[in-house]
Amino acid sequence: MNSAVQTIPTASNKHAPEMGELTPYHTEPSLIQAATTPMGVSLEWQDGQQTTLPLRWLRDHCACQACRHPQTRERLYLPLDAITEPLSVALWDGHLHLHWQDGHVSAFHSGWLYQRRPTAIRHSAVPSVQPWNDNFAPERVCHTDFLTLHGEKAWLTAMLRDGLALITDGPLLEEEVSRLAERIGPQRATNFGARFDVRSKPNPNNAAYTAVGLPLHIDLPNWRQPPDIQLLYCLQNEASGGESLFADGARVVEALRQQDPAALAILSETPIDFRFQDETHDISTRAPVITLDAKGNLVEMRLNNWIRDALHLPVEQMDAWYNAYALLWTLFHSEAHQLELTLRPGQMIAFDNRRVLHGRREFDPNSGARHLQGTYLDRDMLASRLRVIARSD
Ligand code: OGA
Ligand code: ZN
Ligand code: ZN
Repeated sequence: MNSAVQTIPTASNKHAPEMGELTPYHTEPSLIQAATTPMGVSLEWQDGQQTTLPLRWLRDHCACQACRHPQTRERLYLPLDAITEPLSVALWDGHLHLHWQDGHVSAFHSGWLYQRRPTAIRHSAVPSVQPWNDNFAPERVCHTDFLTLHGEKAWLTAMLRDGLALITDGPLLEEEVSRLAERIGPQRATNFGARFDVRSKPNPNNAAYTAVGLPLHIDLPNWRQPPDIQLLYCLQNEASGGESLFADGARVVEALRQQDPAALAILSETPIDFRFQDETHDISTRAPVITLDAKGNLVEMRLNNWIRDALHLPVEQMDAWYNAYALLWTLFHSEAHQLELTLRPGQMIAFDNRRVLHGRREFDPNSGARHLQGTYLDRDMLASRLRVIARSD
């Protein structure tokens, strides 16, 4: 049952429907055909692309002020009812206009529909994760560039793609790490505060606050939601030693999959306990060392040997778990997977704490001062900044 399409051409674009999006949508191509079919409304654009969208989908995406809040742009319509066929389907200036049985009218911009047709390749301002390769070198953005949209975009893109990037030539100012972080989003506070100082301290409550070497780890795996992004701003680094070490979890998980898929299965399917305790806190959670998504891609790493709690597993699983853990540890600490750099005063290293492991070599606190200031951010805020910057591209 195909109803004939009514095409109403006009000279101007005054009928271009407003879809209530801040991200610009395609202005082209125009629709040249629209008709109801048993599957919904079939559409054809000027470039020959075709699709059929169910009536309920179309009704659900109506962007009129009753269906989408004009200020918040949030959805008001609730798609609970089956939708009977529209009274009429029309193209005005190449845009789709539907009149529904209950008298409601919906208008859809042809380019907006084009971008959202089910077969369209979806474009995102946020890059996908790219595991490091042998030649990986971190993106370096100088501090003055980071303060421009162009430099900020380069840094954000590298952070979300590579999970690590450097800012160089910054001022030697206390709290600069917080000022840089807050250009992106609110600092994520933890039991160590919103902003923390890394230097050797009397009565340390954390290995980082001593001068010992730190093997590769993520921070705070004992939290249900460990912080996503860690920023470490170097204010002083005159001590001998203390070089920074990094390794990409996305890469190492692939190496483990190649070498021993059974070990990967054990580490990704066996929850274990993590725990931090001091006089005022006891923060604990149970989760696997590796979390993968349905496609086998890394969602998060939780490797931190000093705040791993007692291993509570069925006895017959313990040896296999320790063997898998030892292999993962060895892969992370192999020369081929490690990136080593010495932070200079005025440099800030940032990394995805749930993907890229970090550590440092031992330093001699009597040979000179070493002082880093750190904070955390949510990854959502980095992606948000990139999408907002992309609006004006
Ligand atoms: C930390 C940490 C690294 C360093 O504070 O969690 O890992 O270089 N510090 O001191
Ligand atoms: Zn509506
Ligand atoms: Zn750390």
